[in-house]
Amino acid sequence: MAPSPTAPRATEVFDQALRMLPRLDGRTVAVTGSTSGTGQVMASTCGALGARVLMLNRPSARADAALDALRRAGAEAELIPCDLQSFASVAEAGAALIAAAPDGLDVLCNNAGVMGLPDTATGDGFDIQMQTNHLSHFLLTSLVWPALVTAAAARGDARVVNQSSGARRGPALKDEFLQRRGGALGGDGFPGLGKWRRYQQSKLANLLFTYALHDRMPRAHADLGVKALCAHPGPTDSGLQEKTAQAGGARLLDRMILGRTLRRAHSVEDGAVGILTAALRPSATSGQFYGPEGRGLPGPTVLLAAERDPEAEARLWSLSVDSTGVADYFGS
Ligand SMILES: NC(=O)c1ccc[n+]([C@@H]2O[C@H](COP(=O)([O-])OP(=O)(O)OC[C@H]3O[C@@H](n4cnc5c(N)ncnc54)[C@H](OP(=O)(O)O)[C@@H]3O)[C@@H](O)[C@H]2O)c1
Repeated sequence: MAPSPTAPRATEVFDQALRMLPRLDGRTVAVTGSTSGTGQVMASTCGALGARVLMLNRPSARADAALDALRRAGAEAELIPCDLQSFASVAEAGAALIAAAPDGLDVLCNNAGVMGLPDTATGDGFDIQMQTNHLSHFLLTSLVWPALVTAAAARGDARVVNQSSGARRGPALKDEFLQRRGGALGGDGFPGLGKWRRYQQSKLANLLFTYALHDRMPRAHADLGVKALCAHPGPTDSGLQEKTAQAGGARLLDRMILGRTLRRAHSVEDGAVGILTAALRPSATSGQFYGPEGRGLPGPTVLLAAERDPEAEARLWSLSVDSTGVADYFGS
């Protein structure tokens, strides 16, 4: 089953949002999942504004093509191989990023994601959605933290931006989704709710991680200007839905969710406004959450009300430390 083809979306709010962003000459921005969708718009926009762009993608023809496209547009861009389904690959990417950014990393955009995949374990033993969408980003952020501190010390601002989703709404965080229980987390049987619960938990984790990071980062780092922010794109016609369908999303429930998303979806440019605002707008501050809100989603990106849950944030942090094996989150 493939979602119905849709007409190209008119871009409505991107140009206006772009006018509120500063030049980025001398800045370095890293974006996970920049082969397509919101991550590609984030990477190309940062490149056009003068940033050096580090594209953290798993090796593929798509990754090579995305790199070429940025370079052809005149951007300074590099590919850092990073497969978020493998902690070993993320560790290599973290080390490569530190080496590639001796003057500091101004923005880490944890954007990559998968949605509604079957109940399978990664090679590390975790749920494929939770490891790709949250756990690997948790690990990556810890590994490149020193580069964020370097940038903040030099230029007064450095940011981690996590990409969540409207799908974060639902049941509270449950420990098992973050533990080495991949392949045994709800299954794929009738009515097929398990895959959507696993996605919901991973996107809730993105938001909880943001607040936990905001609260836990050393005061000295916050004083230098390191910030943790979150965004969500709203329903976006990026091709993500097609990937879910190709991975087996053919049930009635899948068709309903994917079809409803695409009927309301906006363009990838408009979907990228949240992460662009959180990552680059000078007035954005740590702990903020940007995205379209309210009836008639999607719409202009606004500053959303904080959805705090300190107990869940504490559990998320401790489970993520245990699952990724991070020893000293904020380095020395
Ligand atoms: N589209 C929507 O309606 C929507 C709504 C809410 C939230 N979101 C969120 O927005 C983010 C971007 O999604 P999108 O809509 O722009 O979809 P997309 O076009 O499919 O982009 C997803 C990106 O993630 C990358 N990725 C997937 N698995 C990876 C892995 N193991 N290692 C490294 N990179 C990997 C993909 O790279 P490959 O080319 O290697 O697959 C791709 O670059 C996701 O976090 C998603 O959850 C999307």
